[in-house]
Amino acid sequence: MSQLVHHRAQWKTHIGFLLAAIGSAIGLGNIWRFPYLCYKNGGGAFLIPYFIALFIVGIPLMILEVGLGHKMRGSAPASFATINKHGEWLGWWQIIFVMFGIVLYYSVVISWCLNFFFFSFNLSWGVDPNNFFFKDFLVVSSSPLNIGDVRTQILFSLTIVWFLNWFIEFVGVQKGLERANKFFMPLLFILVGILVFWSLGFPGSKQGLSVYLKPDFSRLKDPRVWIDAFSQIFFTLSLGFGIMIAYASYLPKKSQIVKDSIVISFTNCFFSVFAGLGVFSVLGYMAKATSQPLEKVVSQSLGLAFVAFPKAISLLPAFSHLFGVLFFGSLVIAGLSSSISIIEAFTSGIVDKFHYPRRVVVSVLCVAGFSGSIIFTTQAGLLWLDIADHFLTQYGLVIGAILECLLVGWFYRTQRLREHINNISSLKVNRGWDFSVRLLIPLVLIIILINSLIKEFSSPYGGYSVLSLILIGRDWLIFTLFLALIVAGRTWKIEPHTRLQH
Ligand code: TRP
Repeated sequence: MSQLVHHRAQWKTHIGFLLAAIGSAIGLGNIWRFPYLCYKNGGGAFLIPYFIALFIVGIPLMILEVGLGHKMRGSAPASFATINKHGEWLGWWQIIFVMFGIVLYYSVVISWCLNFFFFSFNLSWGVDPNNFFFKDFLVVSSSPLNIGDVRTQILFSLTIVWFLNWFIEFVGVQKGLERANKFFMPLLFILVGILVFWSLGFPGSKQGLSVYLKPDFSRLKDPRVWIDAFSQIFFTLSLGFGIMIAYASYLPKKSQIVKDSIVISFTNCFFSVFAGLGVFSVLGYMAKATSQPLEKVVSQSLGLAFVAFPKAISLLPAFSHLFGVLFFGSLVIAGLSSSISIIEAFTSGIVDKFHYPRRVVVSVLCVAGFSGSIIFTTQAGLLWLDIADHFLTQYGLVIGAILECLLVGWFYRTQRLREHINNISSLKVNRGWDFSVRLLIPLVLIIILINSLIKEFSSPYGGYSVLSLILIGRDWLIFTLFLALIVAGRTWKIEPHTRLQH
């Protein structure tokens, strides 16, 4: 048995692994993105494509990532390199563009949540939260290329966020990651449970819920609805991030791969539907309190969390401060447990390949991550975030996942991985899974990709200048790809395939 296998960290408990994986999956996206998508895409009818996407793409891919990490006992680069030495770059690319892309702005959004957590104590957003958020808090500049100043308030909370990221990761897999999630996840469930039951009692909540869940089946004819469902499943389950592979590599030999994958996926998706009940009860209340139709008060993503919610919180007759504190506190917790997961995925990649000490890697990484995040705390931060998010999630994640399926499906043979999974799991996967990984998932993702590309070329995303889209969006992907190729070209301290020989 190689030294590396001996020293590989392991989860202390099974529930510790489950909670960490669920913590990664449940993030900001569950609370602000899912309810809005549901509303926009036919209400309750959206649950049909959403759960279909969960069954045909989400769960099979989750099983693939958990099974692969478990079998190869390595991070994404190590696992892909064991399959084929030409596949290693893909693993690096995934963890590089998430670590030096998605998480840079994701941590800034967590910082905004932290600022708003404190604002809740005296409802600092006043009577016009829209103006407060965009003009007073972010002071958004006129274009992405006009960067302006760093917002010190945001920089301050960003420092706290990266300090927490660093601290949890520094302490290690068992003592940091596992313990943090064992504390965070139950707390998150309690907080969100309180918020949902509280808001169900608001006047007007029924109307809100009926708009959220009333099925409009005619919307299912629109391909966009299906594309939204499939892309959301990906992002929400943290698939294609290299995270689940790394987390599964710390599992003990005897593990329930299939059952765990199903539990993680379902818990995440039910959490989304559940949180949506609260979000729409609040919007229903706000519509009633301001005598407006619900369509007027609903808004998406950032607008939902930082404009609509503050507005609703101010309107609450009692304990409004407390409601705000609980809401923004929940967002901070949900966000942190996701951001630490990618730091772990990246760290395990570097440690697997170069054998640098974990604590040094984590420290350097967090300082680099913090520095990289600073650009998103400037006045152009919101615009940069919008562009980077669009390109990294719509293209990076999707292309990465297509290649991942093809690599495992055609260069490794899904059958071999399936045998490994079935040997140790009580719940088995059948040949339908092979079909899904080799053909169905890549096909669905390619359709999504083509659709996004068509839209991309028909009009510049978000009305930004083409130059800024190229520099901030496309080039970010190309640059991270370039880095991935360089890292993949370096030699291994211990060749990845020898790690598995006993
Ligand atoms: N699944 C998370 C969500 O729904 C997103 C996420 C998971 C994430 N891990 C991450 C984002 C790491 C950035 C970095 O919000």
